[in-house]
Amino acid sequence: MRGLLEIKNLNVSFAVDDNHVHILNNVSMDINENEVLAVIGETGCGKSVTGSAILHLLPDNAIVTGNIFFKGQDITKMNDHEFRQLRGQEISSVPQSPSTSLNPLMHVGNQVAECVLEKNSSEADKKKTALKVHEIFSRLGLPRGEDFYENYPCELSGGMCQRVLIAMGVITHPELLIVDEPTKAVDWALRKDVMDVFCELKNDMKCAMLFITHDIAAAKYVADRVAVMYCGEVVEIGPTDSVINQPRHPYTKGLIASMPSKGFNVMNGFMPSFQDLPKGCRFSDRCECSSDICVNEEPESVEISAGHFTKCSIYKNMNVSEIFSHAITS
Ligand SMILES: Nc1ncnc2c1ncn2[C@@H]1O[C@H](COP(=O)(O)OP(=O)(O)O)[C@@H](O)[C@H]1O
Ligand SMILES: [Mg+2]
Repeated sequence: MRGLLEIKNLNVSFAVDDNHVHILNNVSMDINENEVLAVIGETGCGKSVTGSAILHLLPDNAIVTGNIFFKGQDITKMNDHEFRQLRGQEISSVPQSPSTSLNPLMHVGNQVAECVLEKNSSEADKKKTALKVHEIFSRLGLPRGEDFYENYPCELSGGMCQRVLIAMGVITHPELLIVDEPTKAVDWALRKDVMDVFCELKNDMKCAMLFITHDIAAAKYVADRVAVMYCGEVVEIGPTDSVINQPRHPYTKGLIASMPSKGFNVMNGFMPSFQDLPKGCRFSDRCECSSDICVNEEPESVEISAGHFTKCSIYKNMNVSEIFSHAITS
C-alpha cells in the first residue's frame, strides 16, 4: 500500500479575544491509498478540526503549523486557488446532514451535478455531468433514470437523501474522502445501511477515507485502522482489530467500555478545558493508572505491536515481553 495522506505534527490554535487557544497538539496520522482511517474520541477532542484543516476549511482565526502531505505535496503551503484544484476533485468530503445540506427546492440530481459544473458550463458539459450523476446514483444503489434525478429531497426516504449526500462527495471519484459523523443524523435502522455504503465505496471505487466518528461500532465496521484522539492529541493509533480488541491506552479502554455492547460503563470525569490543561498527560486527572510521571511528564508515543502506537507512560520503559504480559494481565 502506498501513502496518500501524511499529517505530521499538526498544530491548530484559534485566536479568541486576546488569547490563542491551542487545540490540536502535534497531531500525526497517515492514510494509505484505498485505506479507511477512523478517528474516534469524545465530543470536542479535535476530530472535526483535523478534518477541516485537511480541507482548508478552518475559519480565519485559525493558526496552523505542521505539515499535511497529500501525494507528497504539502497542502498547508498551498494558497486557496491552488487547493481548490484538489478540493472537490482528488480530496472531497461528504456533507453532514440532509436537512442542512440539501436544498429542498432543487432536484436532487441537479444538486449533485452542481458539485462539478462551473457557472458557465456548456450544454454538452451539463449532459455529460447528468450521465455521471445517473451512474453514481446507480453505483450507490439509487434508482437510475430521470424520474429519480428529478425528485425533490422531500420526496425521498431518509436513507435515499443520505446516499444523495454521499453522491455529492464522490461524483468526482476522489482519491481521499473526508467523512465527518456520517451516522450522527441517521436513525438506528439506517445506520447499518450507511456504513455498508462506505464499505462499498472503499471496495468498489477504491477510495481512501478519513472517517470521523464518535460511533466506535461504526469505526470498527468500516475502518482498516483507528486513531483515538483525546484533548487535541492522538493517544492511540493502529490496526482496527488491535486498537478495538486490545486497546492499550487507558482512555481507549474507557471509551470501549462505554460502548452499549460492552456494558455502557461510562468513564469518570470530563475532558479538561483547552485553556486549563494538566501539565503532564492530558488524561492523567481521569486515569485510574495515573502516577507521578503521568502528572509531571508529557508521555511519548510508543510502538507496542506492529503499527500500533500509544501515547502512555505506562509503556515508557517496558521491553516487548513486558508490554505483552501487561496486555494479558490488564
Ligand atoms: N473557530 C473556533 N474557535 C475557537 N475554538 C474552536 C473553533 N472551532 C473549534 N473550536 C474548539 O476546538 C475543540 C475541538 O472541536 P472539534 O474538532 O469540533 O471537536 P470534535 O472532536 O467534537 O469534532 C472544541 O473545544 C471547540 O470548541
Ligand atoms: Mg465534530
